[in-house]
Formats: sequence, structure tokens, C-alpha cells
Amino acid sequence: MTHRVYNFGAGPTMLPTTVMEKVQAEWLDYQGMGVSVIEISHRSPEFKAVLNEAIQLFRKLTNLPENYQVLFMHGGANLQWSALPLNLVQRSSTRKVQYYETGIFAKRAHKEATRYANVDIVASSADTNFDRIPPFDPERVDADAAYFHITGNNTIYGTRWHQYPDTGEVPLVVDTTSDILSWVVDFSKIGVMYASLQKNLGPSGVAIVIVRDDLLGQALPETPSLLNYEICAKDNSLTNTNNTFAIYVAKLMLEWIEAQGGVTAFEALNKRKSAVLYDVIDQSDFYQAVAHPDHRSDMNVPFNLPNNNALLEPFLKESEAAGLYALKGHRSVGGLRASIYNAMPMEGVEALAVFMQEFEKKYR
Ligand SMILES: Cc1ncc(COP(=O)(O)O)c(C=O)c1O
Repeated sequence: MTHRVYNFGAGPTMLPTTVMEKVQAEWLDYQGMGVSVIEISHRSPEFKAVLNEAIQLFRKLTNLPENYQVLFMHGGANLQWSALPLNLVQRSSTRKVQYYETGIFAKRAHKEATRYANVDIVASSADTNFDRIPPFDPERVDADAAYFHITGNNTIYGTRWHQYPDTGEVPLVVDTTSDILSWVVDFSKIGVMYASLQKNLGPSGVAIVIVRDDLLGQALPETPSLLNYEICAKDNSLTNTNNTFAIYVAKLMLEWIEAQGGVTAFEALNKRKSAVLYDVIDQSDFYQAVAHPDHRSDMNVPFNLPNNNALLEPFLKESEAAGLYALKGHRSVGGLRASIYNAMPMEGVEALAVFMQEFEKKYR
């Protein structure tokens, strides 16, 4: 039998075994064609069906209003950090864009924007090592800003927005790379949402981008075609040869999410999963949580060991031997982190909880 471990990596990370098996089963002969899905034209009817099914399924699973486009774009979330100002900055008479600074990815997002826009950092939790989301003050929203950017879930620090801020007429832009399709989102507040695929939707290198129709057609003239939302929407994400494999796996992931009961079911399951780990951490004085209790993520659970993580090496070695893979925290913060995206089953979380309790007994 194939050996599979529980993979707690932050991304790329585990996909459901059933999805991986489907990829394997169809690999050499896609639906009786005698070729792989990666060996057919991106403009063939068969691939267009894959793409359109993925888009329709995303719409269905999120109850996406009609006036939004679903795009697949190159370069993951990183390239969206340039695409956003290029497409939207002209909306502001002073080229102003507003950013919430809640972690390294949020910082990198506004750093890219400085090439094209005047960046206003609305709030930052840098002074508390990004352990929280600073309170939202509607007065700080500048009516002339081109957009207002937040990172929905902060992968490294394990914090999240539980409710998106109401930014009124200024389009809210949300990076949902690490929590897309993990909870039910009210799109009426959102102008643009973007996410790399490699946590809840499949392979890396591609972003899914959701754009409200009224935000199309305003790109700076120097915007590369492949970053232009209007061109991408008009070409249905096929301006050039897109990453057909990534889109194919995303379609399988969307089918899997639907078969498991949809986003509502995952929201409930994800709450139960994260609670198992937070309970172990909170009931012990051995483990310390990184995120403030009011801002905790259901996707990423970072925590520390006593004495500045002196026991990190034995924890990582023994957990890996127990089939619990990739628990090391992000290189910028150290410690440990359990990433528990949609594909992590409750059994994996429970196995980690038992391991943590036994490790504590052994070393405390
Ligand atoms: C919240 C968030 N934004 C952006 C990124 C960057 O994604 P990519 O490397 O696919 O561009 C990550 C990567 O983990 C992330 O977690």
C-alpha cells in the first residue's frame, strides 16, 4: 500500500487522497482520449469544459453574485500584488491605495504596490509581532483611495479576520490564499478577492482572482496583458497557454469540496478541527499559542515550546516518525505550526493532539 502521512505543511501541502487518486487514474488516458489532460490543447473543447466547470463550481460553492468574474491568472498571489495597483490605481485622483499590515505577506503586498501607487498603511500589528488584527476604524477609509487591501488569513502568525471590514464605496481587496473556501464569505463587501491555489485548491503558481465587473477596464496602459483583469475576463483566462494542470486539479478540488457538503460543512469542520489543537495548547502551560485568542485562524495554528523552543528538534524528529509531517514554523518566526486546511481530516488533527500530549508528558 502507498505510504501517506498527515501533512501539516503550510503550502504546497496535502490534497485529499481521493483527488490524488483521480489524477493518477486519469493521468495517461483522460476520459478515453488516450492522452493526458496536460497533453491536450488549452483551446480544445475538453479543456475548455474543465475550465468552465471549475468556474461554475466556484460560483455555485460561494453563491457568487452574477456581477463578478472568476479568473485564473499566472504567478500566484505574488503577481497579484502588482496586478492590483496596475488595474485599479487610476481610480484614485492621488494614486492612493490603503493597506492593513498584519504580517509578512501583507507587507510584501504593499511593498510591491509602492512601484505604482502611494501606499497608505492604515494599521499595523508589527509592534506585537503580528499576533492580532488591529481594530478597524471606518474613519480611516479614504473615499479617494483606489482600494483597501487586507490579508484575510495570516498564514505565518495564525491570525484571521472573522468579519471583513465595511469599506463603503472603496473596493475591499482580500488576499484569501490561506483560507479560500474554508468559510462562508459575504461577497457583497468585496471588490477583488485573490488566492494562490496551493493550499485549498491544488498546485502552486496560479491564482484564482474574483473581480467585480465595475472594476474592469481601468488598468494603466503599461499593464502587461497577462495581468490585465479586463483582458483576462474577455479571454476567459486563456489569453495565452494557461497552466492547464493546475486548473484541472482545482476543478477536482472544487468537486471534492462540493461532495463533502460544500463550504458551510467545511466551516463547521474547520472550527472543530482547530478547537482540538487550541484546547491542547490552552490547557497546558507547556505549549504557548502565538496568536491572540480573539484573532485565531482555523487554518494555521502556530505555537511555541518552553524555553525558546529548546525542544524543537526532538519534537520535529519524533512527530515525523509518528507520521506527522512538516510541523516546523515559518523561518521568520520559528517554533511550530500546524496548517490544517480543508484536506486535513479530523483524524490527522486528533493524532497530532495525542502526540502533543504525550510529548508534553515525556519532556515536561
Ligand atoms: C496569505 C498569503 N499570501 C500570499 C502568499 C504568497 O503566495 P505565492 O507564493 O503563491 O505567491 C502566501 C503564501 O503562502 C500566503 O500565505
